[in-house]
Amino acid sequence: MPTPSSSQHLPFGENKNAEWYGKDIISVKQFKREDLEYVFGVAHEMRGMVERVGTFDLLKGKILANLFYEPSTRTSSSFTAAMERLGGSVIPINEVKYSSVTKGESLPDTVRTLESYADVIVLRHPETGSAAIAAKAARKPVINAGDGTGEHPTQALLDTFTIFEELGAGLIDGMTVTMLGDLKYGRTVHSLARLLSLYKVRLNYVSPDILRMPKEVMDEVAEKNIPQAEFSSLEKVLSETDVLYVTRVQKERFEDPADYEKVKGAYVIDPAIMKAAKKDMIVMHPLPRVGEISTDFDDDPRAAYFRQMEYGLYVRMALLAMVLGKA
Ligand code: NCD
Repeated sequence: MPTPSSSQHLPFGENKNAEWYGKDIISVKQFKREDLEYVFGVAHEMRGMVERVGTFDLLKGKILANLFYEPSTRTSSSFTAAMERLGGSVIPINEVKYSSVTKGESLPDTVRTLESYADVIVLRHPETGSAAIAAKAARKPVINAGDGTGEHPTQALLDTFTIFEELGAGLIDGMTVTMLGDLKYGRTVHSLARLLSLYKVRLNYVSPDILRMPKEVMDEVAEKNIPQAEFSSLEKVLSETDVLYVTRVQKERFEDPADYEKVKGAYVIDPAIMKAAKKDMIVMHPLPRVGEISTDFDDDPRAAYFRQMEYGLYVRMALLAMVLGKA
Protein backbone atom coordinates (compact mmCIF):
# COMPACT_ATOMS: atom_id res chain seq x y z
CA MET A 1 0.00 0.00 0.00
CA PRO A 2 1.23 3.54 -0.68
CA THR A 3 2.64 5.52 2.24
CA PRO A 4 0.52 8.50 3.41
CA SER A 5 3.06 10.97 2.04
CA SER A 6 3.08 9.43 -1.44
CA SER A 7 -0.70 9.17 -1.54
CA GLN A 8 -0.96 12.98 -1.27
CA HIS A 9 0.55 13.15 -4.73
CA LEU A 10 -1.66 10.54 -6.34
CA PRO A 11 -3.55 12.15 -9.21
CA PHE A 12 -6.44 9.68 -9.18
CA GLY A 13 -8.82 9.35 -6.27
CA GLU A 14 -8.88 5.83 -4.94
CA ASN A 15 -11.37 4.77 -2.35
CA LYS A 16 -8.97 3.65 0.34
CA ASN A 17 -11.82 2.58 2.56
CA ALA A 18 -13.12 0.11 -0.01
CA GLU A 19 -12.98 -3.40 1.41
CA TRP A 20 -10.61 -4.83 -1.19
CA TYR A 21 -8.34 -1.80 -1.57
CA GLY A 22 -4.69 -2.83 -1.32
CA LYS A 23 -5.55 -6.47 -0.61
CA ASP A 24 -3.69 -9.47 -2.00
CA ILE A 25 -5.64 -12.25 -3.72
CA ILE A 26 -3.83 -15.43 -2.76
CA SER A 27 -6.49 -18.06 -2.04
CA VAL A 28 -10.20 -18.60 -2.62
CA LYS A 29 -10.41 -19.04 1.17
CA GLN A 30 -10.46 -15.23 1.38
CA PHE A 31 -13.91 -15.11 -0.25
CA LYS A 32 -17.32 -15.41 1.35
CA ARG A 33 -20.60 -15.73 -0.54
CA GLU A 34 -21.27 -11.98 -0.27
CA ASP A 35 -17.82 -11.25 -1.68
CA LEU A 36 -18.59 -13.36 -4.73
CA GLU A 37 -21.85 -11.51 -5.26
CA TYR A 38 -19.86 -8.29 -5.18
CA VAL A 39 -17.10 -9.49 -7.56
CA PHE A 40 -19.64 -10.87 -10.02
CA GLY A 41 -21.71 -7.68 -9.85
CA VAL A 42 -18.64 -5.65 -10.78
CA ALA A 43 -17.68 -8.20 -13.46
CA HIS A 44 -21.15 -7.88 -14.92
CA GLU A 45 -20.75 -4.09 -15.12
CA MET A 46 -17.33 -4.55 -16.74
CA ARG A 47 -18.93 -6.73 -19.38
CA GLY A 48 -21.50 -4.03 -20.14
CA MET A 49 -18.80 -1.36 -20.39
CA VAL A 50 -16.60 -3.47 -22.69
CA GLU A 51 -19.60 -4.15 -24.92
CA ARG A 52 -20.59 -0.47 -25.01
CA VAL A 53 -17.26 1.38 -25.12
CA GLY A 54 -14.49 -1.23 -25.35
CA THR A 55 -11.85 0.61 -23.34
CA PHE A 56 -12.31 3.20 -20.59
CA ASP A 57 -10.17 5.13 -18.13
CA LEU A 58 -10.98 3.63 -14.72
CA LEU A 59 -7.35 2.62 -14.07
CA LYS A 60 -5.67 5.30 -16.18
CA GLY A 61 -2.11 5.82 -15.00
CA LYS A 62 -1.97 2.52 -13.11
CA ILE A 63 0.65 -0.10 -13.93
CA LEU A 64 0.42 -3.87 -13.58
CA ALA A 65 3.52 -6.09 -13.42
CA ASN A 66 2.70 -9.46 -14.96
CA LEU A 67 5.35 -11.80 -13.53
CA PHE A 68 5.15 -15.30 -15.01
CA TYR A 69 7.65 -18.02 -14.05
CA GLU A 70 5.55 -20.66 -15.83
CA PRO A 71 3.98 -20.76 -19.31
CA SER A 72 0.61 -19.08 -19.79
CA THR A 73 -1.55 -17.91 -22.66
CA ARG A 74 -4.97 -17.09 -21.19
CA THR A 75 -4.12 -15.93 -17.69
CA SER A 76 -1.31 -13.63 -18.73
CA SER A 77 -3.03 -12.18 -21.80
CA SER A 78 -6.38 -11.75 -20.04
CA PHE A 79 -4.73 -9.80 -17.20
CA THR A 80 -2.99 -7.67 -19.84
CA ALA A 81 -6.24 -7.13 -21.72
CA ALA A 82 -8.09 -6.41 -18.45
CA MET A 83 -5.57 -3.72 -17.44
CA GLU A 84 -5.52 -2.15 -20.90
CA ARG A 85 -9.31 -2.15 -21.25
CA LEU A 86 -9.34 -0.19 -17.99
CA GLY A 87 -6.87 2.34 -19.42
CA GLY A 88 -3.85 1.10 -17.45
CA SER A 89 -0.59 -0.37 -18.68
CA VAL A 90 1.45 -3.52 -18.15
CA ILE A 91 5.07 -4.53 -17.54
CA PRO A 92 5.16 -8.03 -19.03
CA ILE A 93 7.73 -10.46 -17.62
CA ASN A 94 6.71 -13.64 -19.35
CA GLU A 95 10.15 -14.99 -19.92
CA VAL A 96 11.88 -14.90 -16.58
CA LYS A 97 14.86 -16.39 -18.36
CA TYR A 98 15.56 -12.93 -19.77
CA SER A 99 15.22 -11.29 -16.35
CA SER A 100 17.50 -11.19 -13.31
CA VAL A 101 15.81 -14.36 -12.03
CA THR A 102 18.43 -16.28 -14.09
CA LYS A 103 21.14 -14.39 -12.22
CA GLY A 104 19.79 -15.97 -9.04
CA GLU A 105 17.56 -13.16 -7.77
CA SER A 106 15.12 -14.32 -5.09
CA LEU A 107 11.35 -14.02 -5.48
CA PRO A 108 11.04 -11.44 -2.66
CA ASP A 109 13.73 -9.26 -4.25
CA THR A 110 12.13 -9.52 -7.70
CA VAL A 111 8.77 -8.57 -6.23
CA ARG A 112 10.27 -5.60 -4.35
CA THR A 113 11.82 -4.46 -7.60
CA LEU A 114 8.60 -4.63 -9.56
CA GLU A 115 6.56 -2.84 -6.94
CA SER A 116 8.92 0.10 -7.26
CA TYR A 117 7.50 0.56 -10.75
CA ALA A 118 4.01 -0.97 -10.65
CA ASP A 119 0.81 -0.64 -8.59
CA VAL A 120 -0.17 -4.32 -8.60
CA ILE A 121 1.70 -7.57 -9.27
CA VAL A 122 0.21 -10.67 -10.88
CA LEU A 123 2.36 -13.73 -10.16
CA ARG A 124 2.48 -17.25 -11.58
CA HIS A 125 5.12 -19.49 -10.05
CA PRO A 126 5.85 -23.26 -9.99
CA GLU A 127 6.00 -23.54 -6.18
CA THR A 128 2.99 -23.89 -3.91
CA GLY A 129 3.01 -21.06 -1.39
CA SER A 130 5.05 -18.71 -3.59
CA ALA A 131 2.22 -16.18 -3.94
CA ALA A 132 1.96 -15.91 -0.15
CA ILE A 133 5.74 -15.39 0.09
CA ALA A 134 5.57 -12.67 -2.57
CA ALA A 135 2.62 -11.00 -0.83
CA LYS A 136 4.56 -10.90 2.43
CA ALA A 137 7.49 -9.20 0.72
CA ALA A 138 5.35 -6.68 -1.17
CA ARG A 139 3.56 -3.55 0.02
CA LYS A 140 1.46 -3.47 -3.17
CA PRO A 141 -1.28 -6.02 -3.90
CA VAL A 142 -0.16 -9.41 -5.23
CA ILE A 143 -2.62 -11.53 -7.23
CA ASN A 144 -1.94 -15.28 -7.39
CA ALA A 145 -2.18 -16.44 -11.01
CA GLY A 146 -1.32 -20.04 -10.06
CA ASP A 147 1.21 -21.29 -7.47
CA GLY A 148 2.39 -24.76 -8.46
CA THR A 149 -0.21 -27.37 -7.57
CA GLY A 150 -1.61 -25.06 -4.88
CA GLU A 151 -4.30 -22.64 -5.99
CA HIS A 152 -5.49 -20.59 -8.96
CA PRO A 153 -8.04 -18.31 -7.29
CA THR A 154 -8.80 -15.99 -10.20
CA GLN A 155 -9.55 -19.02 -12.38
CA ALA A 156 -11.98 -20.39 -9.78
CA LEU A 157 -13.68 -17.00 -9.60
CA LEU A 158 -14.10 -16.86 -13.37
CA ASP A 159 -15.23 -20.50 -13.40
CA THR A 160 -17.94 -19.75 -10.84
CA PHE A 161 -18.93 -16.59 -12.73
CA THR A 162 -19.24 -18.74 -15.87
CA ILE A 163 -21.57 -21.17 -14.08
CA PHE A 164 -23.70 -18.28 -12.82
CA GLU A 165 -23.92 -16.56 -16.21
CA GLU A 166 -24.56 -19.77 -18.16
CA LEU A 167 -26.93 -21.64 -15.86
CA GLY A 168 -28.33 -18.90 -13.62
CA ALA A 169 -26.89 -17.71 -10.30
CA GLY A 170 -30.13 -18.55 -8.53
CA LEU A 171 -29.84 -22.21 -9.48
CA ILE A 172 -26.38 -22.88 -8.05
CA ASP A 173 -27.71 -24.38 -4.82
CA GLY A 174 -28.62 -27.96 -5.67
CA MET A 175 -26.33 -28.29 -8.68
CA THR A 176 -24.11 -31.30 -9.33
CA VAL A 177 -20.60 -30.40 -10.45
CA THR A 178 -18.38 -33.20 -11.76
CA MET A 179 -14.63 -32.59 -11.95
CA LEU A 180 -12.78 -34.89 -14.34
CA GLY A 181 -9.14 -35.67 -15.03
CA ASP A 182 -6.07 -34.66 -13.07
CA LEU A 183 -7.48 -33.71 -9.69
CA LYS A 184 -4.16 -34.28 -7.90
CA TYR A 185 -1.94 -31.78 -9.69
CA GLY A 186 -4.63 -29.50 -11.17
CA ARG A 187 -4.64 -26.28 -9.14
CA THR A 188 -7.80 -25.01 -10.84
CA VAL A 189 -9.91 -27.80 -9.32
CA HIS A 190 -8.30 -27.32 -5.89
CA SER A 191 -9.51 -23.72 -5.89
CA LEU A 192 -12.85 -24.46 -7.56
CA ALA A 193 -13.87 -27.23 -5.13
CA ARG A 194 -13.09 -24.94 -2.19
CA LEU A 195 -14.94 -21.99 -3.70
CA LEU A 196 -18.03 -23.98 -4.67
CA SER A 197 -18.25 -25.28 -1.12
CA LEU A 198 -19.76 -21.87 -0.28
CA TYR A 199 -22.90 -23.15 -2.06
CA LYS A 200 -25.08 -26.20 -1.58
CA VAL A 201 -23.56 -28.13 -4.47
CA ARG A 202 -22.83 -31.83 -4.83
CA LEU A 203 -19.27 -32.54 -5.99
CA ASN A 204 -18.20 -35.61 -7.96
CA TYR A 205 -14.53 -36.31 -8.59
CA VAL A 206 -13.72 -38.61 -11.51
CA SER A 207 -10.04 -39.47 -11.95
CA PRO A 208 -7.52 -42.28 -12.35
CA ASP A 209 -6.56 -43.65 -8.93
CA ILE A 210 -3.15 -41.94 -8.94
CA LEU A 211 -4.69 -38.53 -9.70
CA ARG A 212 -7.35 -38.30 -7.00
CA MET A 213 -8.38 -35.05 -5.32
CA PRO A 214 -5.98 -34.35 -2.40
CA LYS A 215 -7.28 -35.27 1.04
CA GLU A 216 -6.53 -31.77 2.32
CA VAL A 217 -8.97 -30.24 -0.18
CA MET A 218 -11.63 -32.91 0.44
CA ASP A 219 -11.36 -32.39 4.21
CA GLU A 220 -11.88 -28.64 3.85
CA VAL A 221 -14.90 -29.17 1.61
CA ALA A 222 -16.31 -31.79 4.00
CA GLU A 223 -16.17 -29.24 6.83
CA LYS A 224 -18.79 -27.24 4.91
CA ASN A 225 -21.05 -30.33 4.76
CA ILE A 226 -20.83 -30.60 0.98
CA PRO A 227 -21.49 -34.11 -0.37
CA GLN A 228 -18.46 -35.42 -2.28
CA ALA A 229 -17.99 -38.71 -4.09
CA GLU A 230 -15.07 -40.22 -5.99
CA PHE A 231 -15.28 -42.34 -9.14
CA SER A 232 -12.91 -43.82 -11.68
CA SER A 233 -15.49 -43.80 -14.48
CA LEU A 234 -17.60 -40.93 -15.76
CA GLU A 235 -20.54 -43.11 -16.82
CA LYS A 236 -22.02 -43.40 -13.33
CA VAL A 237 -22.38 -39.64 -12.85
CA LEU A 238 -22.61 -38.01 -16.28
CA SER A 239 -26.39 -38.11 -16.58
CA GLU A 240 -26.91 -36.26 -13.25
CA THR A 241 -24.19 -33.64 -13.93
CA ASP A 242 -25.03 -29.94 -14.39
CA VAL A 243 -21.43 -28.80 -14.84
CA LEU A 244 -18.74 -31.11 -16.21
CA TYR A 245 -15.36 -29.54 -15.44
CA VAL A 246 -12.70 -31.25 -17.55
CA THR A 247 -8.98 -30.84 -16.84
CA ARG A 248 -5.71 -31.60 -18.58
CA VAL A 249 -3.38 -34.22 -17.12
CA GLN A 250 -0.55 -32.00 -15.83
CA LYS A 251 2.39 -33.70 -17.55
CA GLU A 252 4.96 -31.21 -16.24
CA ARG A 253 4.18 -32.06 -12.59
CA PHE A 254 4.75 -35.84 -12.73
CA GLU A 255 7.79 -37.18 -10.90
CA ASP A 256 7.85 -40.32 -13.09
CA PRO A 257 7.11 -39.82 -16.83
CA ALA A 258 5.97 -43.48 -17.02
CA ASP A 259 3.05 -42.61 -14.72
CA TYR A 260 1.98 -39.85 -17.11
CA GLU A 261 2.01 -42.29 -20.01
CA LYS A 262 -0.32 -44.61 -18.06
CA VAL A 263 -3.02 -42.00 -17.47
CA LYS A 264 -2.67 -39.42 -20.24
CA GLY A 265 -5.58 -40.56 -22.40
CA ALA A 266 -7.79 -41.74 -19.52
CA TYR A 267 -10.89 -39.70 -20.50
CA VAL A 268 -11.97 -38.14 -23.78
CA ILE A 269 -15.21 -36.18 -24.03
CA ASP A 270 -16.84 -36.52 -27.45
CA PRO A 271 -20.32 -36.17 -28.94
CA ALA A 272 -21.09 -39.89 -28.48
CA ILE A 273 -20.33 -39.86 -24.73
CA MET A 274 -22.23 -36.59 -24.29
CA LYS A 275 -25.47 -38.21 -25.54
CA ALA A 276 -25.93 -39.47 -21.99
CA ALA A 277 -25.69 -35.96 -20.48
CA LYS A 278 -28.51 -33.48 -19.84
CA LYS A 279 -29.50 -30.98 -22.52
CA ASP A 280 -29.18 -27.98 -20.20
CA MET A 281 -25.78 -28.71 -18.68
CA ILE A 282 -22.40 -27.18 -19.57
CA VAL A 283 -18.91 -28.53 -20.21
CA MET A 284 -16.08 -26.35 -18.92
CA HIS A 285 -12.27 -26.57 -19.15
CA PRO A 286 -9.67 -24.06 -17.90
CA LEU A 287 -7.68 -24.82 -21.09
CA PRO A 288 -5.26 -25.63 -22.63
CA ARG A 289 -6.74 -28.98 -23.67
CA VAL A 290 -4.49 -31.72 -24.96
CA GLY A 291 -7.02 -34.21 -26.25
CA GLU A 292 -9.44 -34.60 -23.31
CA ILE A 293 -12.25 -32.88 -25.22
CA SER A 294 -12.66 -33.83 -28.85
CA THR A 295 -12.88 -30.82 -31.20
CA ASP A 296 -15.99 -32.54 -32.63
CA PHE A 297 -17.80 -31.39 -29.50
CA ASP A 298 -16.90 -27.69 -29.90
CA ASP A 299 -20.06 -26.75 -31.80
CA ASP A 300 -22.37 -28.26 -29.19
CA PRO A 301 -24.18 -25.44 -27.29
CA ARG A 302 -23.15 -27.13 -24.03
CA ALA A 303 -19.46 -26.55 -24.84
CA ALA A 304 -18.84 -23.50 -22.64
CA TYR A 305 -15.03 -23.51 -22.55
CA PHE A 306 -14.50 -20.77 -25.12
CA ARG A 307 -17.13 -18.52 -23.53
CA GLN A 308 -15.46 -19.24 -20.17
CA MET A 309 -12.29 -17.44 -21.37
CA GLU A 310 -14.26 -14.29 -22.11
CA TYR A 311 -15.88 -14.31 -18.67
CA GLY A 312 -12.32 -14.38 -17.33
CA LEU A 313 -11.60 -10.97 -18.81
CA TYR A 314 -14.51 -9.36 -16.92
CA VAL A 315 -13.67 -11.06 -13.62
CA ARG A 316 -10.02 -9.98 -13.86
CA MET A 317 -11.07 -6.41 -14.71
CA ALA A 318 -13.26 -6.46 -11.58
CA LEU A 319 -10.45 -7.79 -9.36
CA LEU A 320 -7.95 -5.19 -10.61
CA ALA A 321 -10.44 -2.36 -10.05
CA MET A 322 -11.19 -3.69 -6.55
CA VAL A 323 -7.61 -4.02 -5.28
CA LEU A 324 -6.73 -0.62 -6.76
CA GLY A 325 -9.61 1.07 -4.95
CA LYS A 326 -11.73 1.81 -8.00
CA ALA A 327 -14.69 -0.50 -7.43
C1 NCD B 1 -4.59 -23.81 -16.03
C2 NCD B 1 -3.40 -23.59 -15.13
O1 NCD B 1 -2.44 -22.91 -15.49
O2 NCD B 1 -3.46 -24.10 -14.01
N1 NCD B 1 -4.60 -22.95 -17.14
C3 NCD B 1 -5.16 -21.70 -17.02
O3 NCD B 1 -4.74 -20.89 -16.23
N2 NCD B 1 -6.23 -21.44 -17.78
C4 NCD B 1 -4.83 -25.22 -16.38
C5 NCD B 1 -3.74 -26.03 -17.02
O4 NCD B 1 -2.62 -25.58 -17.24
O5 NCD B 1 -4.04 -27.20 -17.33
